[in-house]
Amino acid sequence: MYEVKTQAYASKREHYADLCLQARGLLEGESDITANAANFGALIYHSLPDLNWCGFYLFDGTELVVGPFQGKPACIRIALGRGVCGTAAQTRQTQLVRDVNQFDGHIACDAASQSEIVVPLTRADGRLFGVWDVDSPSIARFDDEDRAGMEALCAVFMESVNR
Ligand code: SME
Repeated sequence: MYEVKTQAYASKREHYADLCLQARGLLEGESDITANAANFGALIYHSLPDLNWCGFYLFDGTELVVGPFQGKPACIRIALGRGVCGTAAQTRQTQLVRDVNQFDGHIACDAASQSEIVVPLTRADGRLFGVWDVDSPSIARFDDEDRAGMEALCAVFMESVNR
């Protein structure tokens, strides 16, 4: 059994550093991408406060298709360039949206979502793998420390995809 830690951390940075260690431990013994994506999402959803959705959109060669996630049922397919996820995939840059109502073209899957961060996931050979999307019911839930932390976590996840 794997226990998600719920201890208090001195800082957000320390929490993300510990989550990266936990993620590495959780993924290192397994090569199945679906299993690892599902466990990665569950670890983060149950470790970080104030989230209502987190999960993967995977690139099928044409568009993004929803993959393993935690939260309410979500939009299934997103074209590149559409919404926050499609923008992250197309630009290959993390999208940190403090208020989704201010993001032109935001796709509202869960009306509760008020802020969002989406990290693009690129394979070692440069091909697009998909995106990692995290939503919160609070406006401005994510800041630059979350951006750095989520990008570090995604790097750990992509190590498991690329090995
Ligand atoms: N809001 C996202 C769509 C995915 S859901 O948040 C799960 C977007 O605009 O791309």
